[in-house]
Formats: sequence, C-alpha cells, structure tokens
Amino acid sequence: MKNIDIRLLAAAKKFGTPLYVYDRTVLEARCKQLRQDFPHIDFHYAVKANSNPTLLGLIRKEGIGAEAVSLGELAVAKAAGFKRSATSFTCSNVTEKELRAAARSGARVHLDSLGQLEMWGKFGLGRDVSLRLNQGIGAGHHEHVITGGPSSKFGISLRDIPAALRIAKRHKLRIVGLQQHIGSNVLDAGIFLKAAKVLLGTAEKFEYVTHIDFGGGLGIPYHTTENKLDTRRLGRELAALMKAFEKKCGRTVSFAMEPGRFLVAEAGTLLVSVVDAKSTEKRTFVGVNSGFNHLIRPAMYDSYHPIRGVSRKGGKSAHVTLAGNVCESGDVFAVDRPMPLPQIGDVLAIENAGAYGFSMSSLYNLRKQPREVLIDGSRLKDISFSPARYSL
Ligand code: LLP
Repeated sequence: MKNIDIRLLAAAKKFGTPLYVYDRTVLEARCKQLRQDFPHIDFHYAVKANSNPTLLGLIRKEGIGAEAVSLGELAVAKAAGFKRSATSFTCSNVTEKELRAAARSGARVHLDSLGQLEMWGKFGLGRDVSLRLNQGIGAGHHEHVITGGPSSKFGISLRDIPAALRIAKRHKLRIVGLQQHIGSNVLDAGIFLKAAKVLLGTAEKFEYVTHIDFGGGLGIPYHTTENKLDTRRLGRELAALMKAFEKKCGRTVSFAMEPGRFLVAEAGTLLVSVVDAKSTEKRTFVGVNSGFNHLIRPAMYDSYHPIRGVSRKGGKSAHVTLAGNVCESGDVFAVDRPMPLPQIGDVLAIENAGAYGFSMSSLYNLRKQPREVLIDGSRLKDISFSPARYSL
C-alpha cells in the first residue's frame, strides 16, 4: 500500500468519514515552486480557495500574502498573521459599510466599479486607489469562473477608463494600482501572458501606477489527459515583460499575483465511505456518505476529480456512478466512470479537493460539514475551525 494511503486510512479510522485531509508537504512544495519560478512577484493567496486558518498560517510562513473578498476573509487572514501590507481586498458589489471596513483594515483595495471609486472618493477613504480592470480577456474551466469579457460582472471595462480618470481627478485621488483576474484554472501560460501584455499596455497610460496585479487562475491538471501549467516558462516570460515595462516607463513597479487553487488543490483529499449500491437499467450506482454539500465542484461545474479506493485495491471493473447522500439527482461525484467496483464499507479518496472543497461546503440537508485534518510529518492533526468565529 502507498505511504499516503496508509496515512489516509489512519485518518479515516481516527476521525471517521467524510473527512478532508490535507498534506502539508504538498502545500509547502507548491508554495516553494511559485516562489522559485516567479522570484519578482509578490503572491497573495486567494483565501476563498481554502480559508482554514492552519493552512493560511503555513502559506504565510512560505512568504506569501493574502487576498480576501469579504470582511470574513479579511478577519481570518488577520487572525492567521498576514500583515496588512501583504493583504489585498477585491470587492464585488460591496456595501458602504464593507468598503469603509476594508479601507480601515489597511489592505490594498482593488475597486471594481465606477460606483465604488465614487464612494471611495466621497468618503475620503484615502488618496491612493487601485482599480480592477476588465480588459475583455477571459479564460477558465467553466463559464461560471470566466471573469473577463463583456458578459462578466467584474471590473471596470476599458471604455470606462476616461470616466474613472475624471472621478479620480474630481476627488483628488491617485490611481496607483491596477489589477485584473481573467478566470480560474487556466493551464495555458500563453493566455496569462497575453492578458498580462494587455494590462501592461493599459498601465502605460496611468502616470502614477506603481503596483500591478495579474490576478489568480493558475490551474492544476485534474485529469491525467491534462498537462501541467508551465510555471517556469510563465515566470520567465512574465519577468521579461515586467522588466521591459519598467524600462519603458522609467519607474519601479511592484508586481503581484493571486493564486488560490494552485497552492491548495492537490494538497487536499475528501475521504468518503461507501454505504449503499444499486443498479438501474442504465446505471451502476455506488452510494457514499457525503455529497455536494461537502464538495460541490462536480455538481456545479461538472468538474472531474480522480477517485480511488484506499482501503481495498482491485476488484472487477465497472462503469460506476458515484452518488452522494443529498436529496437531489444532481448529487453525483462521477458519472459512468470506469473503475474497480467499490464495495460497501470501502473508503474512497476524492482527490485534488483542497481548493473550493471545504470553502464551498454547506449545511444543506442539515448535515454537518466534514472535519479537516492535516498530515504533518508523522502526525495527524485535527485542524477543523468554525468560520462563524471570524469577523472584522
Ligand atoms: N483573484 C480573484 C479576484 C478571484 O476572483 C479569484 C477566484 C482568484 C484570485 C483565485 O483564483 P484561482 O487561482 O483559485 O483560480 N469555485 C471555482 C473557482 C472560483 C474562482 C473565483 N475567483 C472552482 O471550484 O473551480
């Protein structure tokens, strides 16, 4: 049995299933990879991908900052020790109260609309501002996560830049930062580079800009048919673009990115147990003690997650539909997937579940959220937390 499976089984025995298990070694390796391949970029981890405070602490220790999208995320980032100077806040449809609190927190706030810019100026929240731009370039694994282009709700579109400059002038604001985020789970370095070039081209027109944030979206291969993102190439080519920009504009700029998934996805596994089985004329169903209340990605985006047995290997192969225990037909983790037929009592590992797994889980059907455990050297640590405890 593989070493990791021994640990996963031990975790299932000790804490029961369903259970999220994270591997510290994998998390730290991904942080180190980014720091190494992008030495000139400040990383702000997108807390929404996984907001567990223990994992946040580990990410912070790797020299990475935080990116938050709500006051709850700002609070948990603060509690995990991220400095305000290493924290950014991206607003989507915030209230006046939220905007004031975000400004007070000291995080770098990326304003998402002309309305927010107006509010910022009217309330006198600070002279220097940063804008989130929508430059018309979008990418991502599903329509729901493509954030650039005219169908997306995000950012200030290029045609509104003259209006943004007028608002800034009227309120005596200086636009010192520009940010964009094109979408999520992008595996092609070329798309990032194209979007980065456009952002740098736009930034040339802003005389005070000294901070440029290329957003998140760095993808991971969920399926064996997908290739890894070439982070080394992306880092190298981005560095050349950044250098050329600084030379052309004659100023020093700090550059940032906001990866979420890349750091945590592969570090996390959702362990579930097989509790039932049935066949219809069409399908072989295997039923487990978890569902889209715990991992919504397959139901919401039709996402593929590798699934394998950890307590028992082999068995006759079948086309299995792995169904959850939520009262909805869409509650399936895999449909007609060829795999060794699981048996009742088996523990299964749903892999690459560390990003947007627990953080998107809910109490739907009034079932509890899974506990969270960290494999830390030879130890298994219960790192479960209560999100409701964190507020700003
Ligand atoms: N920055 C901003 C402004 C974002 O909106 C996001 C993600 C990120 C950074 C981090 O993106 P990442 O590096 O993780 O791709 N629930 C979906 C993903 C939603 C992403 C939303 N925004 C999923 O499970 O695939």
